[in-house]
Formats: sequence, structure tokens, C-alpha cells
Amino acid sequence: MSGGGIVWLTGLSGAGKSTLATALAARLGAHRPVEVLDGDEVRRYVSAGLGFSREDRDTNVQRIAYVARLLAKHGVLVLVAAISPYADTRAAVQALSADAGHPFVEIFVDAPLATVTARDVKGLYARARAHPEDMPHFTGVSDPYEPPAAPAVTVHTDREPLAASAQRIVDALVARGLVAPG
Ligand code: ADX
Repeated sequence: MSGGGIVWLTGLSGAGKSTLATALAARLGAHRPVEVLDGDEVRRYVSAGLGFSREDRDTNVQRIAYVARLLAKHGVLVLVAAISPYADTRAAVQALSADAGHPFVEIFVDAPLATVTARDVKGLYARARAHPEDMPHFTGVSDPYEPPAAPAVTVHTDREPLAASAQRIVDALVARGLVAPG
């Protein structure tokens, strides 16, 4: 059986991180232990009370990474779906993962701001624009997002079907020995 590892999906809200993580978990979970750590869920159960300042986001990301390492230690392939907007914070959790001996695969879930704003599944982009006082620090609108400089895979969810994006990620995991071929 393949060992544990961390697949870190980063991108704007609404880019498709959770959808991809869920699709990957469904596909890979039959063959090996897999767990999804989703930003929205973590914020409900583990990071309740945290906001979206840089400090709070970094705390949230560090907590996610800590849980991910615990799971990876026990052979789980952990699929993280979190905006995680700051490049050096992602680099820091990647380094901690490497120190612990876990592969860390960074995936950029890329969708243009215009696309995620048009999708606006949760209605948050409209609110962030119409009522910035209610939604300050909204990623991509009034808060930064720093794209990865050298992700293992970039998926373009605005112009690639979900199955194709998932396949390219699976290929990268097979190439790294995290998923058995076939
Ligand atoms: S992170 O920046 O700390 O990694 P995380 O992925 O956990 O963010 O949570 C992002 C989710 O919180 C979004 O998908 C959205 O549903 C919600 N959200 C609420 N307020 C904000 C905000 N100001 N910026 C970004 N996302 C927000």
C-alpha cells in the first residue's frame, strides 16, 4: 500500500477546490485511505471563531496542516481544500510536512476572478462588493491571493472538465508513488 501524503489544493473561493477534493476522494478512496480537510468544514469544527485577517488565516492553515500531518503519519492520503492565500505560509507548511517525511503536492486550482464571481455559488462575491463593511478581507476582492510559483499541477476549472482535472492530479500522484498505477 502507498504511504501517506498531503495534496494541498489552493485557489480562490469558488474555484472548485472542494469539488475536486471530493471527486478525488471518491475515486481514490476505494484503493487506499483518503481523507478530505475542507476549509469550510475546518472553520466550523476546528477553527470556529477565526476570521480572515492574515493572522487568522495563517492559524487556520497551520491547524489544517497539523491535522494533515497526523493523518499522513498513519498512511492517509490527505486532500486539503483551503484558499490558503499566502505563498510563504504554504511554503512553511510544506516544509513542516517534509520534515515529518510526508510528500506534499501543491495543486493550483485556477479560475479567473471573473469566473468565480459569475459562479458565486455562495453569493459571497456579490456581498463582498455590495457591502464591503460586512465582508472585509474577501479574497480576490479586498484581500490578496498569491498564486503558487511552481505548483505540481495547475488545473483550469473554467476550461477543463472536472474529470480531466482530476485525472491530471491522479497522474501526478501516481508519478510520485502516492497512488498505485492503473
Ligand atoms: S483560508 O484563507 O483560511 O484558507 P478557508 O479556505 O479556510 O480560507 O475558508 C474560505 C471560505 O470561507 C470561503 O470558501 C468562503 O465560503 C468563506 N469566507 C467567508 N469570508 C471570507 C473572506 N473574507 N475571504 C475568503 N473566504 C471567506
